[in-house]
Amino acid sequence: MDIVKTRAEVRAALNRTTGRVGLAATMGALHDGHVAVTRAARAESDFLVASLFVNPAQFEGADDFQTYPRPFERDMDIFEREGVDLVWAPPVEEVYPDGFETYVEPGPISHRLEGEYRPGHFRGVATVVAKLFNVIRPNVAVFGQKDWQQTRVIDALIRDFDFDIEMPVVPTVRNGEGLALSSRNRLLSDDQSLAAAIVYRALKSAADAYESGERDAPTLRELVASTLAAEPRCRTEYVSAAHAFTLDELDRAAEPMVISCAAYVGRVRLIDNMVFGVDLYGAEAS
Ligand code: PAJ
Repeated sequence: MDIVKTRAEVRAALNRTTGRVGLAATMGALHDGHVAVTRAARAESDFLVASLFVNPAQFEGADDFQTYPRPFERDMDIFEREGVDLVWAPPVEEVYPDGFETYVEPGPISHRLEGEYRPGHFRGVATVVAKLFNVIRPNVAVFGQKDWQQTRVIDALIRDFDFDIEMPVVPTVRNGEGLALSSRNRLLSDDQSLAAAIVYRALKSAADAYESGERDAPTLRELVASTLAAEPRCRTEYVSAAHAFTLDELDRAAEPMVISCAAYVGRVRLIDNMVFGVDLYGAEAS
């Protein structure tokens, strides 16, 4: 496995290869969710590139950016173990050199849900992903269901900017309590981590109701909201039951559908979702 920093080194490595190029894009602090993304990308490609870049353009606060965990050596061991061929881990000035001034502005799909609470976030994501696509030129790029809205923004980016890239989405990987794995989870105390599992239980209560025949979307949203509200350490930002692809809020629950929420436990912001009637990579929708 080669580890490189510059765009020129990525290009040189790609020029030496043939076959299908895969991309697993990450911000590091790897966990089993990233491993699932990497394995799917490995299975779908001949030459696998993993990127590790904590992208300042998608963070609102300097604080969140600075405190983002960066266990570099451990991340490299995981990529190596998962059969990555090339890691691109650029410094910030390689991606955003002096004079950088052009951003990708994603559409209305990026303004709701996460976009409402994190203005500019998806502009930063779309910009860096467009750059990753241009430098690495993957045939296939794998993303995770955990960030469902992100997959919709990137899907629109691929379509609207004529990238010829397949985008499988792998199901969310959870811990034993149901908490969706996230690099930020390591900022939770043990106690907070247990409280955070309420997010999964809240979504599960709506999923169970839907599967038992409940079709009133406001009722499903209320089930999630009231379950979250019962946990005093949890502060809810939003609850949504939306069309899985347009993200339009539903009156009547119908597939394809995504039920999602965002909530704080302590200072850690958690997001999670469940999708219905959506094809995920190698698994039933969950
Ligand atoms: P990051 O949060 O590091 O996530 C990298 C990839 O892993 C994303 O596709 C994300 O959806 C996926 N992922 C994270 N947690 C997961 C889980 N518990 N189960 C399954 N997949 C999971 O998402 C980003 O980085 C960035 O926005 C990026 C796309 C790299 C652009 O900067």
